[in-house]
Amino acid sequence: MQRVFSGIQPSGVPTLGNYLGAIRNWVPMQDEHECLFCVVDMHAITVFQEPQQLLAQTREMAATLLACGLDLAKCTLFVQSHVPAHAELAWIFNCVARLGWLNRMTQFKDKAGKDREAASSGLYVYPNLMAADILVYKATSVPVGDDQKQHLELANDIAQKFNHDYGVEFFPRIEPHILGVAARVMSLRDGSKKMSKSDPSDQSRINLNDDSDAIRNKIKRAKTDPEPLPDNVLGFEGRPEVRNLVGILAAVTGTTPDAVLREHGGKGFGAFKDILADALIAHLGPIRSEMLRYLSDLPSLDAELRKGAEKAEAIARPIVTEAKRIVGF
Ligand code: ADP
Ligand code: NA
Repeated sequence: MQRVFSGIQPSGVPTLGNYLGAIRNWVPMQDEHECLFCVVDMHAITVFQEPQQLLAQTREMAATLLACGLDLAKCTLFVQSHVPAHAELAWIFNCVARLGWLNRMTQFKDKAGKDREAASSGLYVYPNLMAADILVYKATSVPVGDDQKQHLELANDIAQKFNHDYGVEFFPRIEPHILGVAARVMSLRDGSKKMSKSDPSDQSRINLNDDSDAIRNKIKRAKTDPEPLPDNVLGFEGRPEVRNLVGILAAVTGTTPDAVLREHGGKGFGAFKDILADALIAHLGPIRSEMLRYLSDLPSLDAELRKGAEKAEAIARPIVTEAKRIVGF
């Protein structure tokens, strides 16, 4: 049985993209592997977060993960800052990773934007903390989307350099568990950008706490073109927004874009958007009510997260203690 680590930032309300691209795929993994799922609040503050909002979003993310089907009897769910071993190993990794490696990370360039001098140094060393998140459990499998592959390669470089510099075979190799690009959900107002919980300029995203009216309105406003739906996937060429809406319906109804087009090809978008909104409301409605149920009892939720942190700490503590001994602490 492999040990799997996966993290998600509480940097906003989880979106349909997070759900279809990540969270939904974690659910079946619990039955096959030893899974650690982590709400990575330390990563979130690489960009300033209002404290009250960070705390609320951390709980909201945990509640969402439970509502989507993570089961505390089958996995460990916890908050990153509750397990100090992450920060302890991250410091060692800050001293192992080379500046040149970090300079090559594309996500820093994307997230820092134009004014790189004004970005936090935490944003710069974020990949070192991510390596520590995984290796502090000696996890060997990490479910990742395409966008995260570069981070995993860096984590492996750090593990190898640590082993080499200290003459040990301590950290294992991490294998990506690729979730596939098919589940990539794009923005509803611009099919060339991904739907993101942490893009404040784009309010078109579907949040997992949206009610039925909000979902229907966002789908109605989604960008399309005047042409009807194509008859097959070749018709997606030059129509990224159409590809995206068809892909979303396929994902929530458990079918393929081909099958969606066999059924709905030739329809106009007025009709198709109603069908899509109905399917999304049917799929997301129960998740939303479960999420609200978890959030209506914060003391219980907090207690579960504390228990999760204790389980995680029990695995991480001996590993970080040994890493510190190897370093000479
Ligand atoms: P966000 O940009 O929404 O803040 P994160 O960077 O926190 O997302 O990613 C959390 C997880 O959700 C990752 O596994 C990532 O691959 C996945 N993910 C994020 N956005 C999308 C999307 N639009 N489509 C599919 N998966 C996504
Ligand atoms: Na991220």
